[in-house]
Amino acid sequence: MDGALTTPACGRAGKHLAGASRTRGVLPPFKDLASEYDRWFDGDGHSVFLTELRALAEVSAHAPKPWLEIGVGSGRFAHALGIEAGVDPSAKMVEMARTRGVNAFVGRGEQRLFDEESFGTVFLITTLCFLSSPRSVLKEARRVLAPDGKIVLGLLLREGPWGQLYERKRERGHRFYRYASFYSFDEVSDLLAQAGFVMERVVSALFEPPGRSKHVEEPREGYHSDAGFTVVLAGGQPVRRRRVREVM
Ligand SMILES: C[S@@+](CC[C@H](N)C(=O)[O-])C[C@H]1O[C@@H](n2cnc3c(N)ncnc32)[C@H](O)[C@@H]1O
Repeated sequence: MDGALTTPACGRAGKHLAGASRTRGVLPPFKDLASEYDRWFDGDGHSVFLTELRALAEVSAHAPKPWLEIGVGSGRFAHALGIEAGVDPSAKMVEMARTRGVNAFVGRGEQRLFDEESFGTVFLITTLCFLSSPRSVLKEARRVLAPDGKIVLGLLLREGPWGQLYERKRERGHRFYRYASFYSFDEVSDLLAQAGFVMERVVSALFEPPGRSKHVEEPREGYHSDAGFTVVLAGGQPVRRRRVREVM
């Protein structure tokens, strides 16, 4: 089933979708356990979802349109935030995102799926840690962004309480987290810089410990290492113009 969906055009963003059906390497949990992953947010994970959503909405309120989510998954966040387009290697996830009204395509974030400068903002929501090649995906995000475009990352950082819990699960071979690599805040900052981004804003959320998250929490400005969820907004580094030597 994966890789079999067609890719309807979505205006400018849909003009160049070469390779969108040549997808390989779908991570098993997002192929076989897509519905289970999605359902968690309706049950035990509902207040977590609303807390993360609030933090993402706060940071992206004035981010330029149109919006793309790389690793759109089931489209739960994309739909709630108003993200118009998404890509994901799992056809099952893409199918779910489409039923939520997101213009989603089967594809990997590393692929050149869209024209240069097609989007105002690119989101990666709890996806960075599942990428086999985060540098390539961030560089591709930079390429498809307009010069004044933004990237918004929703992160489970290694040093946070949720990151630590999931890191332990990963080490024990958990069916989702064994595929993840959790990054520290400094590592994310380096990855962004290598792809040509500069952090402009950081918001932290999810301070209730894992398993005891019952309330929808207000996000706090800045980076807090005891937060379970961190949202980073970054823009492109200004392109350095070569100095033209004056001819006297
Ligand atoms: C934890 S899920 C997050 C889904 C969604 N963003 C959410 O928050 O509900 C991570 C997603 O990343 C996708 N993914 C994995 N590797 C990817 C890649 N190379 N390019 C784009 N998406 C990828 C997976 O298929 C999965 O749907």
